[in-house]
Amino acid sequence: MTSHGKFITLEGGEGAGKSTNMQFIYERLCSAGKDVVLTREPGGTALGERLRTLLLDSGAERMHSDTELLLMFAARAEHLAKVIRPALAQGRWVLCDRFTDATYAYQGGGRGIQEARIATLEEWVQQGLQPDVTFLLDVPPEIGATRVVQRGVQDRFELEQREFFERVRGAYLQRAQQAPQRFKVVDAGRSLTQVQAQLATYIAGIL
Ligand code: TMP
Repeated sequence: MTSHGKFITLEGGEGAGKSTNMQFIYERLCSAGKDVVLTREPGGTALGERLRTLLLDSGAERMHSDTELLLMFAARAEHLAKVIRPALAQGRWVLCDRFTDATYAYQGGGRGIQEARIATLEEWVQQGLQPDVTFLLDVPPEIGATRVVQRGVQDRFELEQREFFERVRGAYLQRAQQAPQRFKVVDAGRSLTQVQAQLATYIAGIL
């Protein structure tokens, strides 16, 4: 019988330091001897990456919010079938840069789509599969925005206004409150050293 690996997701607003900390978590898990698949959403498969390009393209025509929601779940269905479920079934760990909490935060909080509609798609696509652990890098939008601007070119989401990101942050924090066992919230407004010290403590707790 194969044992199941853990499914870990990393979430946060724009400029929360996700990429750097993703790498940090990955290295910690690998050095603890875990066989880790590093992946991301939207994306993670050939088709998913094509959908990602469509979703993030800042030059594209305006997209209806329902279309955006359905494309996120289409990419997710592909990702679950081709990457996430097979890896977990082999006993591997999956570390995913964003997952369905991002849909609740961006399409729900940000775009204003009703939570119940997202929940319907979540059940349809995931059939009960949920991350075991979710790290939420929480940062006030004004701090995140400064970091994003320093990076240069902005995608379709990064071009949204400050209120959008306030709602995204609020929705993430609400999700974390509703599932305190699963969520590990990290104050990402602090220095990288402090953020990673907290992450290291959390990681030690799940190994
Ligand atoms: P990122 O990989 O740089 O975080 O970019 C992905 C963008 O896609 C980010 O702005 C959040 C957005 N997104 C959603 O709006 N809904 C989702 O379900 C996911 C996974 C991402």
